[in-house]
Amino acid sequence: MKTLTGSTLIAAAVALLLSSCEGPMGMAGKDANESCTKCHNPEVTGAKSIEYAHSVHYEGEAFEEGTRTNCAPCHSHQGFLYVVKNNTPVTFVQNGSSYTNSYVVNAATASLPGPISCFTCHSSLHSTYTDEDFFPLATTAAVPMTMYGGSKTINFTQTSANLCAKCHQPRPVTASNGNVIDYSLLKSSPTSNYTLSSVSYRTGVHYGAQGAIAAGVGGVEFGSGYSNAQHTSKASCTTCHMAQPSGLSGGHSFSVAGNFNGCNATGCHSNMSSTNTTYTATVADIQSKLDQLAAKINALGGGHDILQKDPSDNKYHGYIDIYDASANPTGYWKNPAYGTPAFPTLTNAQFGAILNYQLVYRDGSKGIHNYAYTKKLLENTLSAW
Ligand code: HEC
Ligand code: HEC
Ligand code: HEC
Ligand code: HEC
Ligand code: HEC
Repeated sequence: MKTLTGSTLIAAAVALLLSSCEGPMGMAGKDANESCTKCHNPEVTGAKSIEYAHSVHYEGEAFEEGTRTNCAPCHSHQGFLYVVKNNTPVTFVQNGSSYTNSYVVNAATASLPGPISCFTCHSSLHSTYTDEDFFPLATTAAVPMTMYGGSKTINFTQTSANLCAKCHQPRPVTASNGNVIDYSLLKSSPTSNYTLSSVSYRTGVHYGAQGAIAAGVGGVEFGSGYSNAQHTSKASCTTCHMAQPSGLSGGHSFSVAGNFNGCNATGCHSNMSSTNTTYTATVADIQSKLDQLAAKINALGGGHDILQKDPSDNKYHGYIDIYDASANPTGYWKNPAYGTPAFPTLTNAQFGAILNYQLVYRDGSKGIHNYAYTKKLLENTLSAW
């Protein structure tokens, strides 16, 4: 059990802050103030809130997606605690000829969603009003993967990573009957035409690929030879993303950009930095393999890219360049402005390659999360057709 750094506070500094701190029922007066100051002081809520103000969890606007019952489990405070509390399954349930995805919240929970806050991960806050309220975390349980309708599970040795992976996991590709597709066919019948789902601009695995790549679970694993890097078992997401702060990274900013404090710990690395060749070579290798994969996928278009080039940075983010009146109005395929060119027929292996491209690109770590797995996944995908 963790204890708070803030318990060693200077009481005088704290009294000031608390002049407006009204205790809840039964906790009024001096006692309440003392219990409140355990956390409501510059070193605990003060310091963490300043770090947290730099977090995309706080700054991001995606919590607004939490008004949708299928987005809320990962995008809103209430939706996340709903799926944790109810242990909401990730299975697909058959109703006659169609299927529904169980991983949703009820409509009331999706109303007026709140952003991810201290109370989302530290769900016991304000229950005993002691230091103990920060832990346990809201969940550290193994994470059945929604992408696979529960047939695969992410379970990190360092269980705090399961908290992050509950949200930072990919989403399912679904067929027209609503069921999750059988990804194993992408490998077992690689040369058959892909007919398991329709294909549109947004078809794919969504953004939260990190949990899957870091755990080495859930890529479309062509061929064999897969293994995991040391990071999978030895590090938690928190080791790197909540390391001793440096610049605008670390701690409760959850950012690791440019912060190597988490790497340089006993039993890990001693001189890791942005110029260390182990680091630069890993990133360069994955970037180059990703670029090769994008080129190989794009070549299927016979002169027109298959993947959309994002206008903001001219990179392929994994979206498919199919016309979508609102989201991709300049997309080439199926665009009436270009004579409605038919999207090329893909094989199962080629569609699987697009999913793997999305997983690795959107993971965003360029091999740092799990180099061995990422490298093998890309190599085997490059030779899958
Ligand atoms: C175990 C730590 C802890 C203790 C003890 C604690 N709080 Fe909090 N409280 C927090 C955190 C964390 C937040 C959210 C961050 C912030 O608003 O600074 C919070 C937020 C609040 C808020 C803002 C509204 C809200 O719910 O977000 C109020 C009001 C509040 N606390 C009152 C109290 C009072 C009164 C006491 C003492 C009876 C108390 N707290 C004791 C951790 C604690
Ligand atoms: C309740 C779901 C949830 C949990 C739990 C969660 N995240 Fe996130 N995380 C998100 C969402 C959603 C975003 C994007 C927010 C936005 O853009 O509005 C995000 C953004 C991030 C980002 C910024 C990504 C970027 O594009 O810059 C990092 C880094 C991150 N999370 C790391 C973590 C770590 C580490 C943990 C575990 C300690 C964690 N997250 C736990 C949902 C979650
Ligand atoms: C299984 C969890 C999960 C579900 C369900 C989910 N998302 Fe997300 N989403 C995430 C995570 C995690 C991120 C941030 C990943 C990152 O930044 O690398 C994200 C990012 C996003 C972003 C990008 C935010 C940005 O900063 O650019 C949008 C938009 C978004 N989601 C919309 C949706 C919508 C709409 C739905 C429902 C149809 C949905 N999401 C369902 C986990 C989820
Ligand atoms: C996305 C999940 C998440 C959110 C949001 C979050 N925390 Fe944490 N917090 C964690 C995790 C995980 C740890 C454990 C870190 C570790 O093991 O190194 C932690 C640790 C802590 C600790 C004790 C260890 C330390 O770093 O001193 C405190 C105090 C704390 N958080 C306060 C807060 C406050 C205050 C907020 C809101 C401003 C907040 N947390 C928001 C996930 C979160
Ligand atoms: C060994 C250290 C390490 C571990 C462990 C780790 N990360 Fe990362 N992560 C990184 C690095 C380095 C990057 C790339 C950051 C950059 O270049 O700005 C990254 C990128 C990310 C991003 C994308 C951020 C962005 O700016 O686009 C998210 C989100 C993320 N990690 C979440 C997680 C989650 C969730 C876990 C646990 C399942 C995890 N990470 C485990 C080091 C780590």
